[in-house]
Amino acid sequence: MCGIVGYVGESQAKEKVIDGLKRLEYRGYDSAGIALPINGQIEIRKHVGEIKNLEKIINDESYNAAVGIGHTRWATHGAPSDINAHPHGNQDGSIAIVHNGIIENYQEIREWLTREYGVEFKSETDSEVIAHLIGIYYDGDLLAAVNRAVEEMRGAYAVAAIAADEPDKIVAVRKDAPLVAGIGKGCNFIASDIPALLKYVREVYFIENNETVVLTKDDIVIYDENGKQVKRDVFHVSWDADAAEKEGYDHFMLKEIHEQPKGIGETLLRRLDENGEINLDGITMTKEDIENFNKVYIVACGTAYHAGLVGKMIIEKLAKIPVEIDVASEFRYRDPFVDDKTLFIAISQSGETLDTLAALREAKSKGARILSVVNVVGSSVARESDDVFYTWAGPEIAVASTKAYTTQLICMYLIALYMGRAKGAVDDAQYKFMLDELKALPEKVEAVLKQEDAIAALAKKYHHKEHIFFIGRGLDSGVSYEGSLKLKEISYIHSFAIAAGELKHGTIALMDTETLVIALATQDFLYEKMVSNIVEVRARGARIVGLAKEGKDEIEKVSDEVIYVPECADEVSPVLAVVPLQIFAYYVAKYRGCNIDKPKNLAKSVTVE
Ligand code: M6R
Repeated sequence: MCGIVGYVGESQAKEKVIDGLKRLEYRGYDSAGIALPINGQIEIRKHVGEIKNLEKIINDESYNAAVGIGHTRWATHGAPSDINAHPHGNQDGSIAIVHNGIIENYQEIREWLTREYGVEFKSETDSEVIAHLIGIYYDGDLLAAVNRAVEEMRGAYAVAAIAADEPDKIVAVRKDAPLVAGIGKGCNFIASDIPALLKYVREVYFIENNETVVLTKDDIVIYDENGKQVKRDVFHVSWDADAAEKEGYDHFMLKEIHEQPKGIGETLLRRLDENGEINLDGITMTKEDIENFNKVYIVACGTAYHAGLVGKMIIEKLAKIPVEIDVASEFRYRDPFVDDKTLFIAISQSGETLDTLAALREAKSKGARILSVVNVVGSSVARESDDVFYTWAGPEIAVASTKAYTTQLICMYLIALYMGRAKGAVDDAQYKFMLDELKALPEKVEAVLKQEDAIAALAKKYHHKEHIFFIGRGLDSGVSYEGSLKLKEISYIHSFAIAAGELKHGTIALMDTETLVIALATQDFLYEKMVSNIVEVRARGARIVGLAKEGKDEIEKVSDEVIYVPECADEVSPVLAVVPLQIFAYYVAKYRGCNIDKPKNLAKSVTVE
């Protein structure tokens, strides 16, 4: 997904900008570019493909300046190409911009600029209109021109602009797309995401919606939409840039799978006080608020949505309150039944997923109370929520989400328990039992990770399969969806997940001797029913990999292979059951020679609709 980096300082802007763009590579992109003000003109250089292609065309010494803006693009309007890559310039080359987001009325603006000003567009992008708009309003004051230009624009944007006549500054503006200013010494930065800046700065300002910021080497000045100067608190970034390195693992995904015990432990630790009680530090939702809710709505996308599927069942079971769940892209367009008695839970690793953010705003506009489960501190979802349960997974770099999922599950358990307790639905014994089960999870996940070699051997055996099904009942059906998504997104194998009891209503028609079925059977009270479902598919010739808790070995009689996870309460088994599925997906993709951390067509953070 698109990334913005800008630098204003003493010299060598291009090095800082390129370095920042590389830090954002993990988000996925198809082209990259940079613009520098040189000798009274803006010189733009850009190239389709990886940043190294761009580096080859900017290494001449004459291409240098103390100010620069750069961009990595993930195509939305117009194919990936040199021309469509950012930055974009205006007609006479005196202005350049980089843009994240979508300008919804760009066609209208484009026609108007062509008709009234004879503008000739070079690219197919929506973003190019921004450069031309700023160009026609520019009269020696870049800030004024940017402010005037945004009055014409509808949609979502984070924009950074430079002008040839003011080669000592960057002006940036945002609406519904993240933007952060980094505070350096004798230099300052602008970026779409904090990781781009971490090598150089730790202190940042978050730029809020409809704010404009002017950066010079000695100053960062933020203005609100009325042009009034805004005082913003400095945010200190405590996470370590090295956390984003692979630390000896072949891929970020494998590293992140192995980081799960730590992430789960940390997420629990932050919410348990010394007496083992759930602490709600920083959460404003009261017991009375909880009693007042008549419904919970969980909304998210992809893996986060799958965490929500488990969350729904757990909250209903423990807190005894009805829970609806939806994918964010559907929720926002169907006039959902939400009001001031609804607790709306948004789940998002990045906190920048546009569909989730838009759904959150829709729910908020209807009076719902917003609680989010987010990994990225200070992200848009976090900032727009009434309360935030952070997942302490650390930065997740691989496109395929792993440690975010298991830590999201932990938050769902804590929320369910807290609500259950507040409503009197969870008694002391059940509360203690569940907390003990949760606290035991890091060690149990470690035990599952020790089976990596055996699971890799299974992946080697089955990596040539073209159709792999995942089945389960109850909580296992939720985990099946996640196992299937993991496999398809990184290995490109066709995969399908279905509640096991539903198979006989149609999907079982697809089962034959070529099919592999991964059958999850971790729910004690559904175990026998699950074994019957396995027998049904096996009778059609499918090969079976069973997944069960230690001690539940009857499954061996109906499976070709079995993976065991440690004994645990049914409620928490998703945290253990998903880990072998993540490892299996990882090794299948590896044996198929796939680009595991950056699968084709996917981006880490989906900030467009
Ligand atoms: O950042 P978010 O959690 O909001 O992202 C939601 C999905 O885009 C994300 O989970 C996606 O499905 C992952 N690639 C799955 O591995």
